[in-house]
Amino acid sequence: MGLDQSQQRQYLDEMGIRVWVRRSLPQPEEVNALPESMASHTNVQEIIDPAMAITAAVKTVVTAKVSQDWDTLASQVTNCTACELSKVRTQTVFGVGNREADWLIIGEAPGAEEDRQGEPFVGRAGQLLTEMLRAIGLTREQVYIANILKCRPPNNRDPKPEEVVLCDAFLTAQINLIKPKIILAVGRIAAQNLLKSDTAIGQLRGRSYLYGEQEIPLVVTYHPAYLLRSPLEKRKTWNDLKLAVKIFKES
Ligand code: URA
Repeated sequence: MGLDQSQQRQYLDEMGIRVWVRRSLPQPEEVNALPESMASHTNVQEIIDPAMAITAAVKTVVTAKVSQDWDTLASQVTNCTACELSKVRTQTVFGVGNREADWLIIGEAPGAEEDRQGEPFVGRAGQLLTEMLRAIGLTREQVYIANILKCRPPNNRDPKPEEVVLCDAFLTAQINLIKPKIILAVGRIAAQNLLKSDTAIGQLRGRSYLYGEQEIPLVVTYHPAYLLRSPLEKRKTWNDLKLAVKIFKES
């Protein structure tokens, strides 16, 4: 996490949380023996994994503060310093497109070009995504495009779990504001994080899901960057896109 100790303390103080740091995992009987008042979700997490407990506490504070108003939300993203990616980004990449779109496209995280331009999917993979959308009769302007992370991970490494946890409130707020009729999750990282699954993307694709309390239909497909490397998978992607269109029309 990119927070120094005093920032962590500030978040934790706001939460009224005391963190227990220990070197070894507690034995099950120790956890079972906790008084009722400490056996809450957060406190048990704190004892089992202090680092993730701090992340969870910070997430709770960030979530509570995240705005449900577009302009405020956008400036909260611009100014976010909740994780260490804020130190290495050129700029945040909020999302782009129609804020009342029926279709929400969710990718992984900004790459080098997106970090430079401040807009998602503008590099080579982005051009292919635009073509994929055009194939089903959609323009970039009609849909909304966002990512799991708003900041570029260095060297395009996979997002770390704590980065995803901390950024999640922003994407959730965007979904609540847009109220899309369908979500297209492009790539493994988007699919696995939205579906809270570690199943391989090859098994996640090919069917539809219902996302969140609003039960928004969600379809998974391959990431365009992967398709650039493995063009033979374009046929499966086309099937995924047709499935998404079918589900959208039925909704
Ligand atoms: N890959 C993504 O997942 N998102 C982008 O915005 C660019 C590349």
